[in-house]
Amino acid sequence: MSKVLILVGHPDLAQSKHNTALLDAVRDLAHVTVHDLYAAYPDFQIDAEAERALLAEHDVIVFQHPVYWYSTPALFRQWQDDVLTYGWAFTFDGSPSQLAGKKAVVAVTAGGSVESYTPEGMNKTTIETLLGSWDATLRMCQLDIEPMFKVYGTVVGLSDEELTTAAKEYNELIASFAS
Ligand SMILES: Cc1cc2nc3c(=O)[nH]c(=O)nc-3n(C[C@H](O)[C@H](O)[C@H](O)COP(=O)(O)O)c2cc1C
Repeated sequence: MSKVLILVGHPDLAQSKHNTALLDAVRDLAHVTVHDLYAAYPDFQIDAEAERALLAEHDVIVFQHPVYWYSTPALFRQWQDDVLTYGWAFTFDGSPSQLAGKKAVVAVTAGGSVESYTPEGMNKTTIETLLGSWDATLRMCQLDIEPMFKVYGTVVGLSDEELTTAAKEYNELIASFAS
């Protein structure tokens, strides 16, 4: 059975509506480990060795976070700098990294509406383009990148029904990696 690691980078999950709903939909799945980065490292002192060990134990890595300034919350950026180091996470000589062949999913919640993330909308482009550094980073680390999981419109807020649907879709996606 493929093991799924969900790295969640939300500065205040206790106050989160949307990321918490997504996590609640998957945290009881047998093959899933949820790792709350802000709870583990409130002082931003990341234990990179422990993080690499956790990554090594799993087959699918999910990077879940709210979109902050068209990027990740700060601790997730720090995590990338500290954990994804040369020789372990990426190489330049064509040799496999320690992450080679694992699957990667970026799962985000965005305050902006789906319309705002279009060429005609407020953001003038897609969320995939704006979060393109995730794609480049994960490709550099030789992960197999799955389509992004997106929940839009969190500032206005999803209705209970919309949030239930999003959580169900997240559950189905994460469950699909079990086999
Ligand atoms: C500091 C900050 C920056 C944000 N930047 C963006 C942004 O660039 N684009 C966007 O769509 N939403 C942005 N948002 C809205 C968040 O994505 C939104 O609060 C989050 O998805 C809600 O999820 P939650 O209910 O799990 O907290 C920002 C919010 C904060 C607090």
